[in-house]
Amino acid sequence: MSEILKIEGVEAGYGKFHVLFGVDLVVKAGEIVVLLGPNGAGKSTLLNSVVGMADVYSGRIVLMGQEITGRPPHEVTKMGVAYVMQSPNNFGTPNIFGELTVYENLVAASAGIPRGEAQRRIEEVFEIFPKLRELRERKGKFLSGGERQMLAIGLGLMKKPKLLMLDEPTAGLAPKLVSDFFLAIRDIRDKLGISVLLVEQNARKALEIGDRAYVLVTGRIKYSGDAKSLSEDKLAELFLGAETGGETPTYADAPRR
Ligand SMILES: Nc1ncnc2c1ncn2[C@@H]1O[C@H](COP(=O)(O)OP(=O)(O)OP(=O)(O)O)[C@@H](O)[C@H]1O
Ligand SMILES: [Mg+2]
Repeated sequence: MSEILKIEGVEAGYGKFHVLFGVDLVVKAGEIVVLLGPNGAGKSTLLNSVVGMADVYSGRIVLMGQEITGRPPHEVTKMGVAYVMQSPNNFGTPNIFGELTVYENLVAASAGIPRGEAQRRIEEVFEIFPKLRELRERKGKFLSGGERQMLAIGLGLMKKPKLLMLDEPTAGLAPKLVSDFFLAIRDIRDKLGISVLLVEQNARKALEIGDRAYVLVTGRIKYSGDAKSLSEDKLAELFLGAETGGETPTYADAPRR
């Protein structure tokens, strides 16, 4: 199976604030890869590293055979990566347009795509998230948290990416909605053929739809393997180790951007 994303020995952070230490991670074509880890472990930083939003000090990031280490976000996006950032995030980036309706948001995301193709993609998004079809005339700023998250993912899908990176898409959602979201993520892989790198707090549910999993603790990968064989006991042990015995990242007057 071919590799969509390959992260090799990545050391990364923000300025002098070193967050990731020798991280290796692979997403193969057609896989859903789940990335778990305690708060502050560096999960978002790893995704930020892929799109040039964190500083990569050493190591390599390869997208479908092409090295992209340190390339800026717009270039990586063009090369086939859609990134739905954690919300709210440290960059203060809103992930949808509040003043535009759901439909207008999708049209805005289709800039540069021929009209017919754009309509087909909007239809694909509505098939993944039928709720968005009902809400097509509603302004972004009036959407609920879950609806907003659906739209944010929909905007990413409009680019027909090869890799979709989702950072805690189910954070703050009601349990029933969380299950629907996981089914939608599986549909995105199954029906649209998009590989997924998924950061999640809902570990158990994420592992049910995931093919493989990684656990990141204080900037280091502590587990990598089959998603189904990562037991709750093992996970608890890894997370607990982080609270009691784990090293904290080194802090050297890092600028917050
Ligand atoms: N833009 C930034 N500038 C400086 N430091 C940052 C920035 N973003 C994150 N950090 C720091 O990097 C470390 C790792 O944060 P990161 O957001 O990657 O963790 P995480 O695993 O995604 O946590 P969470 O589960 O809470 O989202 C934290 O100590 C955080 O304070
Ligand atoms: Mg995060």
